[in-house]
Amino acid sequence: MMNPDLHLLHPYPFEKLAALKAGANPPAHLTNIMLSIGEPKHQPPQFVLDTLINSLDKLSNYPTTKGIPELRKAIADWLNNRFKLNGKINFDQQVLPVNGTREALFAFAQAMVDRSKPHSWIVSPNPFYQIYEGAAILAGAQPYFLNCLESNQFIPDFDSVPASIWQNTQLLFICSPGNPTGAVMSSERLKQLIKLADQFDFVIASDECYSELYFDEKNPPAGLLQACAELGRHDFARCVVFHSLSKRSNLPGLRSGFVAGDAKILEKFLLYRTYHGCAMSVPTQVASTAAWEDEQHVIANRQAYREKFDAVLSILSGVLDVKKPDASFYLWPKTPIKGELFAQQLFAQQKVTVLPGSYLARESNGINPGEDYVRMALVAPLAECIEAAERIKLFVKNL
Ligand SMILES: Cc1ncc(COP(=O)(O)O)c(C=O)c1O
Repeated sequence: MMNPDLHLLHPYPFEKLAALKAGANPPAHLTNIMLSIGEPKHQPPQFVLDTLINSLDKLSNYPTTKGIPELRKAIADWLNNRFKLNGKINFDQQVLPVNGTREALFAFAQAMVDRSKPHSWIVSPNPFYQIYEGAAILAGAQPYFLNCLESNQFIPDFDSVPASIWQNTQLLFICSPGNPTGAVMSSERLKQLIKLADQFDFVIASDECYSELYFDEKNPPAGLLQACAELGRHDFARCVVFHSLSKRSNLPGLRSGFVAGDAKILEKFLLYRTYHGCAMSVPTQVASTAAWEDEQHVIANRQAYREKFDAVLSILSGVLDVKKPDASFYLWPKTPIKGELFAQQLFAQQKVTVLPGSYLARESNGINPGEDYVRMALVAPLAECIEAAERIKLFVKNL
């Protein structure tokens, strides 16, 4: 009567977190500080909101799934500049708007997996953004998890995958900068993965939604299309990237992102999306065009995160085993006790909520690679992040 694969979906990490916190009685005089959710809290750019309001009359039109050319052109220009594509990305065939990367990552797996194959793997980092797993399950494929460990600088250990798995791999999810570790893959690594994709005939879905949250203005994280361009691979064969305005421009509620890459793949993905019925409303497209055309607000956004990381890390260094990530807005400290217990007791004693790392990972190779970690999202205002760090310091000292 119902799709049996629905029973295989795991509860979302935040449901588990709510259960973990239930029954706790944190001190009433303390304010609740949430470092658990990766929802940006900086102000969205006012000009984008104004553009949205000024184009509301366009709600009287049905949007097309392919999107307005102005938006796709703005995205193509942004990609060309940001990832040094030498003007090679074609706005008409290699770019599609999506309603945030979450729906796109999910939908992409549905469109990509060939169900006629007896074994289909979707290879994913571990820990990971939970949509990758749900997308694999509902597409009729099996997730194959690659642990991201400190010993590997939190990069998935691709060399550990046997050829028998690669042979049946249809899709590889990568996430760089990574959630939750913030680890960035080098362009060399991305080129190796492209070689593997050619060798074993699979597609790479590169989740780059944190690509604009980095520390060094002169050294932004590389992207998969950039690696293609460096190889002279201007058809971006087998490669699709996922980008979002949610983190870059503090617009998580706008639901706006894009996919870009291999035209043959995107042609079929567009067909899939037409049936799926996920066209982006025209006012959202107009507002998104304005957002992709501006970098000043993104530079200011990065500066705000830089200040928070510096302040929090100066409080926590020597207290927790924690490093500044390569990029993203997350800290991924190793905890002196199991991450789940740490999160539970931290909330009970100091009313600060962090997410147990184990909730973002699955057991693979006999370990849960998130077990001894928690994730802290530095999304709250600076003063609140500092207050949280002071409370965490107190909590750890009393352990
Ligand atoms: C790794 C990763 N990918 C994708 C998303 C989805 O973002 P959005 O759908 O807002 O673009 C998130 C959001 O937290 C994320 O952490």
